[in-house]
Amino acid sequence: MAEDNVLFGEHYNTHFDPDIYINSFFTVLDDTVEDGLAAFILNSLHSVFKSGNVKGKRLLEIGTGPIPHSVIPAVPFVQDIYLTDFSTVNRKYLQDALFGSGKQDYANVYDFFAKLSDAGEPWRKRSDDLKAKVCGIFPCNLLQDDIFSGSYFPLFDVITSSLCIEAAAPDVETYGNIAQKISKYLKVGGHLVIVGVLDQKYYFVGEHKFFSVCISEQELKSCWEQAGFTILSWNHMKGPEENEYSDFGSAFVMDCVKKS
Ligand SMILES: C[S@@+](CC[C@H](N)C(=O)[O-])C[C@H]1O[C@@H](n2cnc3c(N)ncnc32)[C@H](O)[C@@H]1O
Repeated sequence: MAEDNVLFGEHYNTHFDPDIYINSFFTVLDDTVEDGLAAFILNSLHSVFKSGNVKGKRLLEIGTGPIPHSVIPAVPFVQDIYLTDFSTVNRKYLQDALFGSGKQDYANVYDFFAKLSDAGEPWRKRSDDLKAKVCGIFPCNLLQDDIFSGSYFPLFDVITSSLCIEAAAPDVETYGNIAQKISKYLKVGGHLVIVGVLDQKYYFVGEHKFFSVCISEQELKSCWEQAGFTILSWNHMKGPEENEYSDFGSAFVMDCVKKS
């Protein structure tokens, strides 16, 4: 559970600055910066989606925060994209960035993906395609029984989530409960793609220290297997000894399929 001075829950509405977060974790995607965490995440997401096996009509993204990187490589393979987040501030930031007057255009993220792809597609085209497919940015609280507070969604073909569940869950048991809740929104045979960090207790957004649940690889895989998933791919990167922004032990990108 979060210590008193570590931020959690409602603090995502008061102390989480989207620009500082993006600048810390996603601005420079060079391999040498932030020990390649962002580059690892984007490379791994590209690998999961490039085969075209992870596809379907409807995609749900859980805890998008201020940045939609985890759905960008999925855009060619789905029709309707539902973005969600707990924080009103992050939902507004995302809304302004995608559809309003926000200055953020995620150009470096699109550029990074464009370099990985053979399509040679200009990033603005992918950005326009994403905007055309986003059906809304919805509130979500993974700690509630009804995580979308009464919004009714038919089952999804694909669910993605990046660096969110470990920020939301106060302990490993709750992480497991969240996995069960998320599973209910996915069709049997549908894919779940999770970006996460292992053995991390905190991360910084500017001067503010945010809580992260410290979960091991074995605990995490067991949570998803008990929620009805079979893991198809697991890409894993060891974290650095010293890190200015967080104490993550390692990062992973996992693709799994719902078998029951
Ligand atoms: C570290 S940020 C990750 C943002 C983005 N998905 C990424 O990969 O960079 C953690 C996100 O989890 C969200 N979050 C925190 N508590 C939550 C909860 N109880 N339910 C859903 N989302 C939550 C926050 O609002 C924030 O956007």
